[in-house]
Amino acid sequence: MNYEKLWDQKIQEGLHRRKTPHWTIPEVAEFFKKHNVKKILDLGCGAGRHLVYFAKRKDFVVGIDTSPTALSLANKWLRREKLSNYNLVIGSMLNLPFPDNEFDAVVSIAAIDNFRIKDIQKAVNEVKRVLKRNGFLFANFASTEHESFKRWKEFGWKKVDNNTFFHKIALLQAFITKGQLLKLLSGFRIIRIWEMIRQQNVDRGQIKSVNWEVIAQRM
Ligand SMILES: C[S@@+](CC[C@H](N)C(=O)[O-])C[C@H]1O[C@@H](n2cnc3c(N)ncnc32)[C@H](O)[C@@H]1O
Repeated sequence: MNYEKLWDQKIQEGLHRRKTPHWTIPEVAEFFKKHNVKKILDLGCGAGRHLVYFAKRKDFVVGIDTSPTALSLANKWLRREKLSNYNLVIGSMLNLPFPDNEFDAVVSIAAIDNFRIKDIQKAVNEVKRVLKRNGFLFANFASTEHESFKRWKEFGWKKVDNNTFFHKIALLQAFITKGQLLKLLSGFRIIRIWEMIRQQNVDRGQIKSVNWEVIAQRM
């Protein structure tokens, strides 16, 4: 089974369908508003929690995902909310089906780092291409300080590449240092970068989850 089908299967099984927005999204939405952001692309939008959040704020949102199940869930939710300021596209963030300079901002939560590093770089390059000049990227990336990275063997992760692992629920996951992240984002001006540390519930109990969160601006 290819990687996209595997994601679709997990979502069909009821996984990766969070309903509440990621913790920092309200703050980021305020930042976008202050900078006159109107058209937002959500990369790997999943079941639509951030599409609904931004569309309710009257932004125009475009969600892209490879999973038909995720897009169908997102569509149902957006319609239930009586929102129409959105578009859903089936496709890959590694090869975005959008023209250059199309979006004021791109967001990607728990999605852009679910690849090997070379593919993350591909996705970042695609983001750079579709963003308008001075447009923003907000994304999170798992850190090498994450407990899953430090205890990967014990947690049943399988190593597939340098700092990249496969897990039956999380699927592919790269863990990166701040230096690697800054390198991935060359060509962007870093507006803000921070480490989000939280306790996360997994099948083995609570672990320390550590992720880089970044707001970067296309130069
Ligand atoms: C962990 S879920 C996160 C969903 C959503 N961003 C959220 O925060 O709720 C990752 C999503 O990325 C999607 N995905 C996987 N590979 C992709 C690709 N190449 N292009 C676009 N989306 C992809 C999956 O189908 C899944 O919906």
